[in-house]
Amino acid sequence: MPDIVSKEIRLKSRPSGMPTHDNFELGTAIAAEATKGMVQVKNLYMSVDPYMRGRMNDVKSYVPPFALGEALQGHAVGEVVSSGDDGFKAGDIVLHMMGWREAITGPAAMFTKIDAHGLPLTAFLGPLGMPGLTAYGGFLDIGKPKAGETVFVSGAAGAVGSMVCQIAKIKGCAVVGSVGSDEKGEWLKSLGVDAYINYKTTKDLTQSLKDAAPKGIDIYFDNVGGSHLEAALEVANGGARFAECGMISRYNETGQSDGPKNLIYIVGKSLTLKGFIVVQYQHMQNQFIADVGGWIREGKIKWEETVKEGIENAPDAFLGLFTGANMGKMLVKLG
Ligand SMILES: NC(=O)c1ccc[n+]([C@@H]2O[C@H](COP(=O)([O-])OP(=O)(O)OC[C@H]3O[C@@H](n4cnc5c(N)ncnc54)[C@H](OP(=O)(O)O)[C@@H]3O)[C@@H](O)[C@H]2O)c1
Repeated sequence: MPDIVSKEIRLKSRPSGMPTHDNFELGTAIAAEATKGMVQVKNLYMSVDPYMRGRMNDVKSYVPPFALGEALQGHAVGEVVSSGDDGFKAGDIVLHMMGWREAITGPAAMFTKIDAHGLPLTAFLGPLGMPGLTAYGGFLDIGKPKAGETVFVSGAAGAVGSMVCQIAKIKGCAVVGSVGSDEKGEWLKSLGVDAYINYKTTKDLTQSLKDAAPKGIDIYFDNVGGSHLEAALEVANGGARFAECGMISRYNETGQSDGPKNLIYIVGKSLTLKGFIVVQYQHMQNQFIADVGGWIREGKIKWEETVKEGIENAPDAFLGLFTGANMGKMLVKLG
């Protein structure tokens, strides 16, 4: 198999505030035919995820920053084109972290073979991938749901949020989701979610949450932070659990913002607030695949995708995460 000329998206400059197209540049690299120990892969789909915004900053975090002038990274599924390793052959489908490019050649250890069992390959970037494990691990471990409890989910129509909503319904909970459009809310209702709040049109988020959850909330799965966290603290029942997954409303802020004004409820209501990073739930991977795979086969879990076409549109897909352009998982089709 010949070398592949691969287009890739590089980080041109570090954003201040909301990123723009000027922060990215298109380049080309060669994905060489595989030599001994190497695997050459043509990417079919790549994922864009909110955490990548943090990697665009030059700050110390749980993952290193993206390097200026180099291609970004992220989850992707691809097809093996040539292999110098006994564990892979041409035509195998693999999951790996070298998205944001059309093709890559790397050491075999970089790739994990996928047996799709008839599922679309994109499921491994969504419900059966990192966002799915985030929802499953964070909700079950920190939320500790019990049937009859009320769950509030922000960012509820996104990749993680829509999974949390459905797992909460499977566990017998009442679910209120917060979303940025009525179309997203109606989709959630079609999945069995009891009520939704359109945070962009409501005049009073806390009052809307009180109305949607008249018995209060027992679990808050936080994807958004800010005013959503403040509303959840206000409406939380005694002993409620807060799974702090993300705070996307803050990712593009340039200065220090005011915290929730009502943190004092943590004491009086005996709340548990716990942040987590998905890698901490790696030990749940087998149970996660068994449970979520089963729920998908039984029709209890469904998912949506918003798919952009072509590597040139990857920045657009990424920027769309911060304006609510996606329903379900945001992906870029490359193959
Ligand atoms: N802790 C971990 O290990 C981990 C792993 C994966 C993801 N996460 C976090 O989980 C959250 C969801 O990630 P995802 O991959 O599932 O993304 P996603 O929800 O599919 O996409 C992001 C969504 O966030 C909403 N949003 C954007 N800006 C907002 C704002 N200012 N206020 C309220 N909502 C806003 C938009 O929906 P609307 O139309 O509803 O506004 C957008 O569609 C993010 O905070 C992410 O960082 C954490």
